[in-house]
Amino acid sequence: MTLLLASSWGDMDPYFGKWRELLSGQPGGIEVRLYPDELGDVRDITAALVWDPPPGLLAGLPRLRLIQSLGMGVDHIFKHDDLPAGVPVARLVDPDLVARMSEYCVHSVLHYHRDADRYDRDQAANRWNPVSHPAASTRRVGVMGVGAIGADTARKLKLLDFDVAGWSRTPKDIPGVAGFHGADGFDAFMQRSEIIVCLLPLTPETEGILDARALALMPVGGGIINAARGGHVVDADLIAALDGRKLKFAKLDVFREEPLPKDHPFWTHPKIRLTPHNAGITNPVTAAAEVAENYRRVERGEPPNNIVDPARGY
Ligand code: NAP
Ligand code: GLV
Repeated sequence: MTLLLASSWGDMDPYFGKWRELLSGQPGGIEVRLYPDELGDVRDITAALVWDPPPGLLAGLPRLRLIQSLGMGVDHIFKHDDLPAGVPVARLVDPDLVARMSEYCVHSVLHYHRDADRYDRDQAANRWNPVSHPAASTRRVGVMGVGAIGADTARKLKLLDFDVAGWSRTPKDIPGVAGFHGADGFDAFMQRSEIIVCLLPLTPETEGILDARALALMPVGGGIINAARGGHVVDADLIAALDGRKLKFAKLDVFREEPLPKDHPFWTHPKIRLTPHNAGITNPVTAAAEVAENYRRVERGEPPNNIVDPARGY
């Protein structure tokens, strides 16, 4: 068995080099080839560890038995319509990555909650202007998607005393977190949430979910935090909601096109703070064992852990 490490992003060294070092060093060793230079005979490849795989690559591996995502999301795999039939797609569920993601989301909620931009502006103007802020318990935060990352984020926000709700496809029971689910629960969830934290997977059902209609449901002066995928947000609708004073703040880590084009209006919008899709970058040091375990499971003829459902797209 041989594992191919591949991305359409081109030369991913030294990141891929670190993965190779760690996977080769797992008990029993794993033979790793880096795409494209080391592809060699495609019949040797039985597992592919991928981030945004090059079009056609996976379809051209005749003995593939595992498609393993390098991240928690799998939209970068399912966007290809020629995936080899019957080959399981597994995602990472790495506690280190979950913790990084919830840390990003909690930081962004606190940024909004404590009006951090006001004090940046005041400092720039040498202005001493103390203002009292509302208690966290009066701030209604809505977490869209309460899976691995969303549930952790909701719990941590609750520990800080925020008034937290979650929205998911199926009902959830997280202590202290108000639960909403499905299309029927969507409007009430948006209406009660002053701050929305989007942690949904990108699927045909969630594409463009933060559009003009959804944003119009939110309380005036609300904020959007999107650490999931750029495709969840309708860019023009978000800008209109910020310009129209419906929303006060947006914190964005992910974009429809990445890197964000230099002329995109998000770069200079006064109410937008952005980061370059680094809310949670997979750390090979913490994630390699999980990949190795899936590789071994497939080698033994067992199903890999964390298989995703191709019909649902997550
Ligand atoms: P997950 O465990 O699969 O959880 C997904 C959640 O979304 C679940 O609660 C699911 O509901 C809900 N959901 C899915 N489709 C829905 C729909 N149509 N309506 C309502 N709820 C729906 O995912 P995760 O591991 O938390 O990751 C979430 C996303 O974060 C990833 O897909 C990825 O895009 C993003 N991410 C971003 C970064 C970054 O650096 N910015 C890093 C890692 C991950 P059920 O529980 O009912 O199924
Ligand atoms: C990053 O975006 C991931 O899906 O892990």
